[in-house]
Amino acid sequence: MTSGPAHPDITAPDTTDLADLIAELSVQDKVLLLTGADAWRTQGADALGLRPMVCSDGPAGVRGILLDERHPSSSLPCPSALGATWDTGLVRELAAALGAEARSKDVDVLLAPTINLMRTPLGGRGFECFSEDPMLTAGLGVAFVRGVQSAGVAATVKHFVGNDSETQRWTYDARIAERVLRELYLAPFEACVRHAGVALVMAAYNKVNGIPMTEHACLLRDVLKDEWSFDGVVTSDWNAARSTAATALAALDLAMPGPDGPWGPQLARAVADGAVTPEVLDDKVARLLRLAARVGALSPPGGGASVWPQAVPGGTGPTLVDPALLRRAAAASLVLLRNERGALPVDRAGLGRVAVIGPNAVRPAIHGGGSAVVAPVTVSTPAVALAEALAGQAEVTVAEGCQTWVMVPAPAAGSLRDPDTGEPGLRLEFRAGDGALLAAEHRTSTALTWWDQVPPGIGWGEAGKIVLVTSFRPDLDGPHVLGVAGVGHLTLTVDGAVVADGATVVPDDPVEAMARPGELRTTVALPAGREAQIRLEYTPAADGEGPLAVRLGIVAAADDDDLLAQAVRAAGQADVAVVVVGSAEMTESEGFDRDTLALPGRQDELVRRVAAVNGRTVVVVNAGMPVLMPWASQVAAVIYAWLPGQAMGEALADVLFGRAEPGGRLPVTLPASEADCPVLHAVPRDGLLTYDEGLLIGYRGYDARLSRPQFPFGHGLGYTTWAYESLRATTADLAAGDDLGLTVTVRNTGSRAGREVVQAYLAGPPGDPARPVRELAAFAIATAGPGEAVEVTLQVPARAFARWDEDSAGWLWPPGQFTVHVGRSSRDLRLTAQIRSEAR
Ligand code: BGC
Repeated sequence: MTSGPAHPDITAPDTTDLADLIAELSVQDKVLLLTGADAWRTQGADALGLRPMVCSDGPAGVRGILLDERHPSSSLPCPSALGATWDTGLVRELAAALGAEARSKDVDVLLAPTINLMRTPLGGRGFECFSEDPMLTAGLGVAFVRGVQSAGVAATVKHFVGNDSETQRWTYDARIAERVLRELYLAPFEACVRHAGVALVMAAYNKVNGIPMTEHACLLRDVLKDEWSFDGVVTSDWNAARSTAATALAALDLAMPGPDGPWGPQLARAVADGAVTPEVLDDKVARLLRLAARVGALSPPGGGASVWPQAVPGGTGPTLVDPALLRRAAAASLVLLRNERGALPVDRAGLGRVAVIGPNAVRPAIHGGGSAVVAPVTVSTPAVALAEALAGQAEVTVAEGCQTWVMVPAPAAGSLRDPDTGEPGLRLEFRAGDGALLAAEHRTSTALTWWDQVPPGIGWGEAGKIVLVTSFRPDLDGPHVLGVAGVGHLTLTVDGAVVADGATVVPDDPVEAMARPGELRTTVALPAGREAQIRLEYTPAADGEGPLAVRLGIVAAADDDDLLAQAVRAAGQADVAVVVVGSAEMTESEGFDRDTLALPGRQDELVRRVAAVNGRTVVVVNAGMPVLMPWASQVAAVIYAWLPGQAMGEALADVLFGRAEPGGRLPVTLPASEADCPVLHAVPRDGLLTYDEGLLIGYRGYDARLSRPQFPFGHGLGYTTWAYESLRATTADLAAGDDLGLTVTVRNTGSRAGREVVQAYLAGPPGDPARPVRELAAFAIATAGPGEAVEVTLQVPARAFARWDEDSAGWLWPPGQFTVHVGRSSRDLRLTAQIRSEAR
């Protein structure tokens, strides 16, 4: 994707002599560099030839410094979807394209990937993680970092560490045993440092074992920097640095955002009074300058020939990710969980009528909420994409089935007009406290967010107002639900009459101001075809902070009983019913955990009633993390589709009609009930979040309890069948500290070409009660035509045979008999090999 000389590879060895540069700086100059210049930029220094570096989220697309539909971004499948591909090559290719888009938007530092683990299926940011397994997370994390950095953009692994849930995320104290930290939660970070040369690590908000992560000298300095030889920058999560000397001594290098924060003059004073040594300060500056050199932000003073790689000057516009790649990646992430009597793929030839049903068919959740949000270039909905794929071949009926929205959805496309310009959309005004117009612009989105860049006089605690003015033309006669949201005071008028007026509460977590701001709702009768004049005035709360957001939603009032009846009628008359259910917008987000695994609204009832009248019911689940599927055995087929990004509809059409294989495998266990989950709620008690389950998260917990998940970790059917014919290991007697090679022969026993994810799990010798029954130790992808047999090689790393020993504070290789199991999932193991490991 990024061939040619255009971009430096930032993992290239750095030969810059930084000491001379640092010697030129005063303590004041140095501390200035170590706090952000604003929300997204670092400080520049002309004397050094250092320009500010731009940071941007995130893991499912690069937003840039603005979240604005006029500057859209490619919307990638969410990380749990990438986890489902189990494909390091594809993840690297996608990440390289993401890096190229970042570079073209002048972004130097991408705040991704998230490599925390899915400890609980309710975790609000679980969709931002790759997996519940550290080995899969590490493999995909390394691929992601290498891809981004090959485009000359620095990647940031986050959130270091124990940041696995959202409830009280700013303050909770994760109590995690050292062995558990080492074997589970630190492992992906270690891999990205040692094997991918990641440029930044982000220190999390939470505490671990009593110490805030930005002050954790043991984990940041001793483990990350000394033991793993990390030579990059430790940045704080946004506003996570809350002390001066403790963070400085713990080896935090950069406090973001700025310009305020606990460092600056306080850090200079700490150096002056000896609390922080000049060497500690210089090390931070050296790391920052090394980062600048890597991304091309440092050029020699005086304009001489550059000894550092230089970023290519901004081009003609953003280099968006190739839509065909987004579509291919989304299709590769879809997991076929069930496929009775070959219900899929659907042969389009014999179809008369297809019913496309479900709230997510018309209003899909393409990404999760919070800092991972981007303004997508386009959205391919299942309803539109399936109708297009069947055009001229079958009649498509679309039925919403039931409503699940948490906040009133945006008005239908084309229903709004800017009263000033006459164009589709609205007029946005910024007004001072006295009502004077400060600025106005034309916008097309009714969900507007500012991370930091509203005109002065408008932000939190100022008296100014944000005003939306638009003309709305309804398609239908009758009652319409209007919703206005934002943290602060909202006044909504329709044709000059106030229909809603009031204040919403200030959430505990500032990101909620964007992810789930309070909403006022009202119902107004509107005649079809006549324009209603809408005006929304929003005054942000005096005590708020964080990003600022305001939303206007309008939807024709509907009754779920009627919607369900329409859907069942449509299904009864169709040859195939495709039911797209899942999370609603704002159900899964940074800032809060979910409180149930159940699908929102009446979606379970919808699936059951559709399945009762149509034997060819295919259910597509559009959720970033597990949901319960109590109806799974009653439907012909189930596809797990994650939050697939902008290409959702097209990718789904490709898979349903057999143009692509649903090649995904579960990166997370799908539970049959909430009670079965090894860890469900992560609600701190008195501020403490104890990781009592030890090593037994995800499939390890199910294996320990011998309980049956609904669909196990690693499961996925694809469109062909596979026989596992043989397994050979490079040795039966393994020297401690050696890797083990495996060669597996698999045969495609079906009638079409396909892709298989060959998974190797390792079971240890008896005598270690804390050790999971088996753990993923290696994986590889096989592709083969019908009838064809192929050999794949897998490398089980030496570390898979080791245990962290708390007494000696080091890795131990317990001697004894290990069993390697190879198969199609953690519960479908087809071949075994016995390996004796020596002691060390
Ligand atoms: C999130 C980070 C994100 C940062 C900047 C924080 O609230 O935890 O993941 O990169 O904000 O948006």
